[in-house]
Amino acid sequence: MRIFIDTANIEEIKEINAMGFLDGVTTNPTLIAREGRNYREVIKEICAIVNGPISAEVIGMDYDAMIDEGRELAAIHPNVVIKVPLSETGLRAIHSFKQMGITTNATLVFSANQALLAARSGASFVSPFLGRVDDISNSGIMLLEDIITVFDQYSFPTEVISASIRHPMHVVECAKRGSHIATIPYAVIKQMIKHPLTDAGIEKFINDWKQVF
Ligand code: G3P
Repeated sequence: MRIFIDTANIEEIKEINAMGFLDGVTTNPTLIAREGRNYREVIKEICAIVNGPISAEVIGMDYDAMIDEGRELAAIHPNVVIKVPLSETGLRAIHSFKQMGITTNATLVFSANQALLAARSGASFVSPFLGRVDDISNSGIMLLEDIITVFDQYSFPTEVISASIRHPMHVVECAKRGSHIATIPYAVIKQMIKHPLTDAGIEKFINDWKQVF
């Protein structure tokens, strides 16, 4: 499973990228707004740091706005993936972007049917929001399992980005279900690295060493 970071914060991206396991970045309007910076500049900076797919979301909700924005964002760097919300207009835009050779990430996916249609429309990636499904007392992991089963059945080239990851066990469950990618918030990546037995082990090794040398 490839690891993306779900953030628009440059310092977080630099810190995690330095560890060598980062394969890409996803952003969304909420994450960009949190940084309070020029959208296109942020995307450009991220592309200069991480060599992998960088998702940038369209804000406009009508077809022409989606296409204009998507084209503009895609021109920033060849790694930019246009994130399009799953709607009738979104599917139409995904289909058009496919014909233009622009890669897309169908976002706000909450059902296997939405994922199926996005894949058939030509989406390069689909992003089921696991945590938000859990929030309404359903299982995000079961949704992921359904999508993976359908995609495997027909060998669809569309890749699944598990999104709205809230805790380290979400990541383990995604990897066990065969999610192609998980996009993970900075804080959860940090939690994945930490283990109390590792910390205790390091402390003991250092203390034992110091007692003799
Ligand atoms: O990648 C989607 C993600 O940013 C949404 O996460 O925690 O707001 O549901 P969350």
